[in-house]
Parts: sequence; structure tokens; C-alpha cells
Amino acid sequence: MKLLEDRIRRDGVVKEGNVLKVDRFLNHQMDIELFQEIGKEFKRRFANENVNKILTIEASGIGIACIAAESFHVPVVFAKKTQTKNIAGEVYTTQVESFTHGRIYDIIVSKEFLGKGDRVLLIDDFLANGKALEGLAQLVQDSGAELVGAGVVIEKGFQRGGDAIRAKGIHLESLAIVESMNDKTGEIVFREQ
Ligand code: G4P
Ligand code: NA
Ligand code: NA
Repeated sequence: MKLLEDRIRRDGVVKEGNVLKVDRFLNHQMDIELFQEIGKEFKRRFANENVNKILTIEASGIGIACIAAESFHVPVVFAKKTQTKNIAGEVYTTQVESFTHGRIYDIIVSKEFLGKGDRVLLIDDFLANGKALEGLAQLVQDSGAELVGAGVVIEKGFQRGGDAIRAKGIHLESLAIVESMNDKTGEIVFREQ
């Protein structure tokens, strides 16, 4: 998505350790007009999928999922990250391992909000190692709902997440794929799509 790539080049900051800071428009301050264009692009790419629910994960996926949901006219459910153990029964739950933060956490979604008959689109801001998306896909599968695909704003193409998600046969649409970046020069190379 040209508009997004231009914005990443203009306002993104490449940090040491292959981290891309996009706090100026995506992860801290949020440019809602850009979000609306992103939402329309997701809608265009999943137009014929009869999505009836968007599933994301707290915290930073929620904003983008909500604006995208306006294009789909569907509700958003966000998986909660929790330490709580006594949650079996009323929720679907799975474990997510964060490489970046070096910890494992549980994610949960109430059984009330996901189940058979749902056609679910996953939305997230970043795809790095893919563990968050894999966890969400697991919850969808456990619930008996149909997973129609995953929409990601920025994929770090040099990390393993995108390939892992595609290898599972999940229809993944990443609006910008960073092939490489250089924290000395600030140069960012995007994958041709
Ligand atoms: P993953 O396996 O789910 O892809 O996540 P990973 O552990 O690699 O990354 C941990 C967190 O850091 C994720 O957010 C992910 O979105 C974010 N992240 C990874 N790489 C980058 C990057 O280059 N730039 C930015 N801005 N974020 C990145 P999270 O832990 O789910 O936290 P939250 O922010 O949603 O609360
Ligand atoms: Na994040
Ligand atoms: Na996120």
C-alpha cells in the first residue's frame, strides 16, 4: 500500500535491533485518516469473505481493528492478555510466547463472543515472529468459527512470522512488508507486492 509505505519512510524511525518505531502515526499517536484508508484496503482485500467479526489482541491491535471494522460493519473482539489461571470453562485460551519480551502469556476470549457460524478476520498492527497471530488463529479454531484470513499493517518480512502464517494456509494480507532496514542510514526497503 503506497500511502502506508510513504508514511513509514517519512515518519518511521529505525532503531537498533531491527525495531521499527511508528509511534508518530500507528503505535502511540494515531492518524485516524490513515487508519481509515488502511481499513478500506483490508475491506478491498477481503471483500468476498463475508466477514462477520474481527478479532485482534490488546493493546496496540485494538485501534486499527476498530477503524477497520467500520469498513466491514462488524463488531471487534479483542483477546485479553492475562496472568490469571482460573479461567477454564467460560473462555477459549491459549499461550503466546513473545520473543521480543522474552515471556509467555495467556490470551483469552469469552466463549460468548466467538463460535460456530462466525467468519473471523484477524487484524493486528505488527507481524514479527507471528506468535500473537498464531495464538489468535488457535482460539478461532478451538471455537469452531471459520478463519477467513489475517490482515496486518506492517510485516517484518525478515522475521519468521509471515512465512509461518502462510505455511499454515492462512490467507495473509500485509499492507507493507519491510524486507530490510538500516538503523545507521534509516533506509527501509519494502518487498514488491
Ligand atoms: P509476535 O511473535 O506476535 O510477532 O510478536 P513478537 O514477540 O515478535 O513482538 C512482541 C511485540 O512487539 C508485539 O506487540 C509486536 O507487535 C511488537 N513488535 C515487534 N516488532 C516490532 C517493531 O519492529 N516495531 C514495533 N513498533 N513493534 C514491534 P505486543 O507485545 O503484542 O504488544 P502490544 O504493543 O500490542 O501491547
Ligand atoms: Na505492539
Ligand atoms: Na499488536
